[in-house]
Amino acid sequence: MNEKPLKNTLILKVDPENLEMDKITIAANVIRNGGLVAFPTETVYGLGVDALNAEAVKRMYMVKMRPLDNPTIVHVSRISDVYRLSVEVPDKAEELMKRFWPGPLTIVLKASEIVPRVTTGGLDTVGIRMPNHKVALALIDSSETPIAAPSANIAGRPSPTLAQHVIQDFYGKIDVILDAGPTRIGVESTVLDLTQTPPQILRPGGVTYEELKEVLGEVSIHPSVIAKIEVEYAHSPGMKHKHYAPKAELIVVEGDLNKIVDKIIELTEEYSKFGLKIGILATDETMHRYGKGIVKSMGSRSDLKSAAKNLFKLLREFDDENVNLILAEGLPLKGLGLAIMNRLRRASGYNIIKVE
Ligand code: TXA
Ligand code: MG
Repeated sequence: MNEKPLKNTLILKVDPENLEMDKITIAANVIRNGGLVAFPTETVYGLGVDALNAEAVKRMYMVKMRPLDNPTIVHVSRISDVYRLSVEVPDKAEELMKRFWPGPLTIVLKASEIVPRVTTGGLDTVGIRMPNHKVALALIDSSETPIAAPSANIAGRPSPTLAQHVIQDFYGKIDVILDAGPTRIGVESTVLDLTQTPPQILRPGGVTYEELKEVLGEVSIHPSVIAKIEVEYAHSPGMKHKHYAPKAELIVVEGDLNKIVDKIIELTEEYSKFGLKIGILATDETMHRYGKGIVKSMGSRSDLKSAAKNLFKLLREFDDENVNLILAEGLPLKGLGLAIMNRLRRASGYNIIKVE
């Protein structure tokens, strides 16, 4: 197939606190006409198309180079849309929407007829969420259609938390990029499958296991969330594809914190001898302990919000600096730590060293 000519990508700066509706209208018209618009959410930037337009959704899969069996989240701005997209909305879903929407929770429900099966990756279920971002909500509203949007990165790359990341991956390939600055949360939404009993977390994210448990009582976690397993039955087909990976090799060192630091120092010494450029993904508490290597802190261990917010940006920075190997400190698998470690482990291809 011949390369299509490059598109003229329109980059529009938008301020969520002072929405300029003319810019939103331009982007909404593009969505309505089957085009591609990257837009900010509170988690990461999304690559949006009309969720009900199968041809537009196919174009999005091509541009993102996303495998066709990986379903895409459908974004809504009104709860009433959930009842169009799904014909079975259990009480639990209603409770969750009330408590966590708009916000970083995607609920997987049985899909209705109006949802093209290319949007759901061929499944009979659909993942739906209402993002907590004024620009995203205004765009969905003005488009007058639910918007299917995966994270706005080429498949396999770290998710975009800055418009600059979207520009790196998609400039000249999509119609519009709405730039509202850095995203607030930085890891993607939690994906919760409500077609199972008890509900199951398919991907940990901005809403924590602990928070869901409070509302639901019982919640299970899909085994692939923390470990590498082969996913035979595609509960979340996204699980089986390579994800979040920087170009550099990545090793995650996990266990007792002092031993983590010692191990990273030892590995840095060793690999530096081979002339490798080493990046160290550290935390505020430990970063001063490393002598060699390019050291970046994710933030404090006592509040993982900044680690979540910085993770993908730092992985891309190491790539920009042509680091050959990234050594990352492990974090506890609690609260947001579960989402961060899920991303880090997968980004490493499960290249994990345990020091107990
Ligand atoms: O925060 C987010 O969720 C961002 C922003 C843009 O909203 N979106 C995002 O989309 O991360 P994406 O496509 O990169 O990840 C969607 C995840 C995938 O792991 C996919 O497998 C899962 O959601 N998913 C979507 N629909 C599903 C369904 N019907 N059944 C199971 N998993 C589903
Ligand atoms: Mg993604």
